[in-house]
Amino acid sequence: MKVITTIAEMRKLRSKQAGSVGLVPTMGYLHEGHLELVRRALLENLTVIVSIFVNPTQFAPEEDFTSYPHDPERDLALLEKERVDLVFMPGAQEMYPEGSSSWVEVEKVTERLEGDFRPGHFRGVATVVAKLFNITQPHRAYFGQKDAQQLAVIRKMVSDLNMNLEVVAVPTVREPDGLALSSRNTYLSPKERKAALVLWKSLSLAQELWQKGERSAAPIRQEMTSLIESEPLAKIDYVSIADPETLEELEEIDRPALVSMAVKIGKTRLIDNITLGE
Ligand code: PAF
Repeated sequence: MKVITTIAEMRKLRSKQAGSVGLVPTMGYLHEGHLELVRRALLENLTVIVSIFVNPTQFAPEEDFTSYPHDPERDLALLEKERVDLVFMPGAQEMYPEGSSSWVEVEKVTERLEGDFRPGHFRGVATVVAKLFNITQPHRAYFGQKDAQQLAVIRKMVSDLNMNLEVVAVPTVREPDGLALSSRNTYLSPKERKAALVLWKSLSLAQELWQKGERSAAPIRQEMTSLIESEPLAKIDYVSIADPETLEELEEIDRPALVSMAVKIGKTRLIDNITLGE
């Protein structure tokens, strides 16, 4: 496994790769969810590149950029074990040199849900992902379904800007009790970890109501909201039942529907989702 820190060297090594190349973009502090992306990429490509870069432009000033968990040595050991070919680990100066002033703005699909609560977040995500695509020129790029809106934004960017690659969505990996894996779970105290289960419980409730035949979105949203509000440590940012591509809220669930939420457990903001009727 080769670890690369400059764009010039990444381009040089990329130009020597024959056959399909898969890219797994990450911000490091890898967990089983990331490793599932890596394993899928290894199955489907001759060469796999994993990028590790905590992207400053997708964090608002009051967010956790400076305290975002990191352990590069552990990350590299995990990737070596999976037999990844190349790891791209640039510094912030390399990715955003003095004077950088170009951005990728994806409209509409970025304007709701996470976009409402994290203004500018998706501009940072789309810009860094576009840069990573330009630098590594992958045939396929792998993203977790857990960040469903991010996935929708990246798909839209790839389609609108005619980027020549396939975006592959990989199912969310969960703890045995249902909590979705996230690097931010490490912020939770034992008491908060227990309370965080309310996200999965409310998604399971939505699934159950839908399976019993409920097709109106409003009562499902309402029951989920009441369940989450019954947990004293939880504070809801949003509970949404929306079209998975446009993220527009649905009244009737007459096609696949993305049920998603963002909930603060203490100071930690968690997101999760499932798709009904896939
Ligand atoms: O999902 C993430 O970890 C990040 O948003 C990504 C896609 C690596 C861009 O920084």
